[in-house]
Amino acid sequence: MRSVHVRAASKEYDVLIGKGAVSSLGTEAKKVCPGALKALVVSETNVAGLYLDTVKKQLSEAGFEVSEYVFEAGEQHKNINEIAGMWNKMAEAGFTRTDFVVGLGGGVTTDMAGFAASTFLRGIKVIQLPTSLLAMVDASVGGKTGIDIPMGKNQVGAFWQPSLVLEDTSFLKTLPDEVFTEGMGEVTKHAFIMDVELFDKLEKANGSIRDDEDLLEEIVYMNVADKASVVSEDETDNGRRQTLNFGHTVGHVIERDSGFTKPHGICVAKGMGIVIDACVRAGTLGSSEAQKMKDLLKLYKLPVSDEITPEDIVKGAMNDKKKRGDTLSVILVNKIGNAEIKKMTAEEFLKFLSA
Ligand SMILES: NC(=O)c1ccc[n+]([C@@H]2O[C@H](COP(=O)([O-])OP(=O)(O)OC[C@H]3O[C@@H](n4cnc5c(N)ncnc54)[C@H](O)[C@@H]3O)[C@@H](O)[C@H]2O)c1
Ligand SMILES: [Zn+2]
Repeated sequence: MRSVHVRAASKEYDVLIGKGAVSSLGTEAKKVCPGALKALVVSETNVAGLYLDTVKKQLSEAGFEVSEYVFEAGEQHKNINEIAGMWNKMAEAGFTRTDFVVGLGGGVTTDMAGFAASTFLRGIKVIQLPTSLLAMVDASVGGKTGIDIPMGKNQVGAFWQPSLVLEDTSFLKTLPDEVFTEGMGEVTKHAFIMDVELFDKLEKANGSIRDDEDLLEEIVYMNVADKASVVSEDETDNGRRQTLNFGHTVGHVIERDSGFTKPHGICVAKGMGIVIDACVRAGTLGSSEAQKMKDLLKLYKLPVSDEITPEDIVKGAMNDKKKRGDTLSVILVNKIGNAEIKKMTAEEFLKFLSA
């Protein structure tokens, strides 16, 4: 099993990655949650049918009293009602501050399990067991937790680091192809902003990393290491962590304009394509590098453009929570593996996008 150590300012923890990693859940949980008697496994309908029994068995064999909270799969259920259901489950089971939550699922689940844990009894431990590619390489690592409200996605939440992240890459076998592709949006993003080695590996793999289990495990590991290094430097998004928003300022607008019907990873890929083109026009990125980046996106079945106008992007982005004051932090890539944070006013951003 591979491991990555996260050194966030508020907490340090390990991310363990490998095929069959779930079989060490019981032992690892006892290590990171000493004194715990009870565990609540949070999952959703698709994933629970596949892996809930295995996870519960692991925990009960380790001596924990296990309860479960299973919600209907899908982003539209990432809301306060489900969180209240989790709080009630824990209260009914007599949870104390030493007990813990386990998040078993994609990013929707790990975000909600983390948020329920961060608020129950003013904060109890959470162990994340991500099952989607996106949750493994991004959502489950770094401690951003939360829910959506009608006014916007992830508008309510907390920074709450997990005590352990256990990534069983064999869980990815059952992930639908299109959901895997969405996860590749964040994987290519890591390659673009900070990881030339990952870029080369993805390019060499020629679009097929799913079938080679060892390669897939290695790629997940590289992504976790990337995310961990950023989070260890800037837990709360005031500096370097903002580079993880590459493609997101534009992508979020496309996502919101679609009424959240277009998947996040796809919108991020479109956002990256649009910004890559703008960087070339602005002369900060060479056109052959840009072509290589767009070719990589296409190789992994991701789009590189969208019909949205620069005006609509700017209007949407100025309403987004990522703006600070009157300026936006736009993430640019000036060569593969190297990102830069650039503050722009609405006028500057429009000019950058329009050319
Ligand atoms: N906290 C963070 O830093 C962070 C970062 C990125 C994204 N996110 C959040 O993550 C969410 C998106 O994550 P996601 O794409 O994993 O969505 P998701 O949790 O909805 O999972 C996507 C789909 O895959 C299914 N699924 C997951 N694992 C499976 C498996 N092993 N086998 C079969 N089906 C499986 C799910 O049931 C669902 O239908 C968004 O809510 C986003 O806001 C959070
Ligand atoms: Zn993202």
